[in-house]
Amino acid sequence: MVGFQRRGLGTLRLLLSLLLLAYWETGSGQLHYSVPEEAKHGTFVGRIAQDLGLELTELVPRLFRVASKGRGDLLEVNLQNGILFVNGRIDREELCRRSAECSLHLEVIVDRPLQVFHVEVEVKDINDNPPVFSLKEQKLLIYESKQPESRFPLEGASDADIEENAVLAYRLSQNEYFSLESPTNSKQTKRLSLVLKKSLDREKIPEFNLLLTATDGGKPELTGTVQLFVQVLDVNDNDPEFDQLEYRVKLMENIPEETLVIKLNATDRDEGVNREVTYSLLSIKPNGRHLFTLDENNGEMRVNGSLDYEENKFYEIEVQATDKGTPPMAGHCTVWIEILDTNDNSPKIIVNSLSFSVPEDAQPSTVIALISVSDLDSGVNGQVTCSLTPATPFKLVSTFKNYYSLVLDSALDRETTSDYELVVTARDGGSPPLWATGACAPGKPVLVCSSAVGSLTYSQQRRQRVCSAVVPSNTDLMAFSPSLTPNLDREDERERQESGCNHLGQLKNSFNQAYFKD
Ligand SMILES: *[C@@H]1O[C@H](CO)[C@@H](O)[C@H](O)[C@H]1NC(C)=O
Ligand SMILES: *[C@@H]1O[C@H](CO)[C@@H](O)[C@H](O)[C@H]1NC(C)=O
Repeated sequence: MVGFQRRGLGTLRLLLSLLLLAYWETGSGQLHYSVPEEAKHGTFVGRIAQDLGLELTELVPRLFRVASKGRGDLLEVNLQNGILFVNGRIDREELCRRSAECSLHLEVIVDRPLQVFHVEVEVKDINDNPPVFSLKEQKLLIYESKQPESRFPLEGASDADIEENAVLAYRLSQNEYFSLESPTNSKQTKRLSLVLKKSLDREKIPEFNLLLTATDGGKPELTGTVQLFVQVLDVNDNDPEFDQLEYRVKLMENIPEETLVIKLNATDRDEGVNREVTYSLLSIKPNGRHLFTLDENNGEMRVNGSLDYEENKFYEIEVQATDKGTPPMAGHCTVWIEILDTNDNSPKIIVNSLSFSVPEDAQPSTVIALISVSDLDSGVNGQVTCSLTPATPFKLVSTFKNYYSLVLDSALDRETTSDYELVVTARDGGSPPLWATGACAPGKPVLVCSSAVGSLTYSQQRRQRVCSAVVPSNTDLMAFSPSLTPNLDREDERERQESGCNHLGQLKNSFNQAYFKD
């Protein structure tokens, strides 16, 4: 381990040792040895007495002693054999930190005559320090929108050793998304960085746990590791989505206001405000009417108005869900609402009388009146059947769907019966059925209309053909005539006001009725 070598200007003796060479320089008067750091106690360093040209026997009499600046006790000389050996723990890093040169300086002194020798013992580095990262974990926050090839600086490791024992190589645990860019040996211009290899998607992989390993160049090599925690930050790159593109809802007509139609729910795969969704109505077809409301926060669609099957059977509603990201993103769905019919329209009867006076010699089959019925409801709710009561010499003959003729069925005899009161009842097929009568009798008719709540009563002194509808559930009476337009003319209006409600008392029962009276 210790070299001994002839060098310089010649006055000196060349000495051979078994293993080692050292050299002696007159100019500096220096002897060089080297010893690895961390060598065991007692490790041979050099035959110092011999190398200095001293006889073993003169060491004690000449008071051979070694002085050192500071660290003298790390090395010691055996005065019996003149050997310099390791006497304490020599830690290169403690003595010299990271400087490339590290040596212990010894001053050897003998008396009689006084001589001083300088001995340099170089402490050689061994790979006794692993690479060390200052943190156990490095955390990186990376937006998912970062482009591939983006670089993210990492903090490298340090190694207390020197030279190749401190040359570090880095590697990253296997993964698809990141690679490593290491500083190159010659040029330290590149920083240790993480390089993005392909686009991130937070919604797919929100975080990564990678292991960064540093290996030094010692033999054997030592390693150090650090955990890299990559958190992928959200950007608003997802639309809110309804779980269906279309929703179909069936509603009965006339359902109460505020009834819940449907609760919509759009979800957004982003995070935070980027996933917070508000709802809005884009359009309601037909007519864009405000018949439905949508709660912008909870997506509840409710009825806002009265739904009338007879007015409209289908609504197409476009809904938008918008997130609160910047810029916001939106998703859409369509709600189809089908209105179902309820039996809310009574049949209507229109009586077209040809003549209310019939000669007693009229032939059977003589047509007395033409009657048509109608009902705004659909299906069975709008299927109307007519019947005639009580039993009289008249009958109803169906001439066409919803058209009837009131005809004479058998011979009349004025002397037996001079007038008849007939009741035509139209009944629809709903459940429960709605029906209408208003009673027809020959003669000069008086029309008396009344609603069960008594709000509408008028009479008309006219020969009039009359129809009425009755709604048992106390809704308004509807009465009209083919010759009487729904908007009464001035004269009618005056008559109505004059006559007032005075005929109400003539009603025999609580049903709403319209009938002719002589
Ligand atoms: C919407 O749907 C998602 C997923 O089905 C659910 O987690 C969330 O609670 C729903 N939101 C509402 C307001 O119902
Ligand atoms: C609900 O209906 C009322 C009456 O038609 C209308 O004034 C109102 O604007 C509607 N509400 C909404 C939120 O459309």
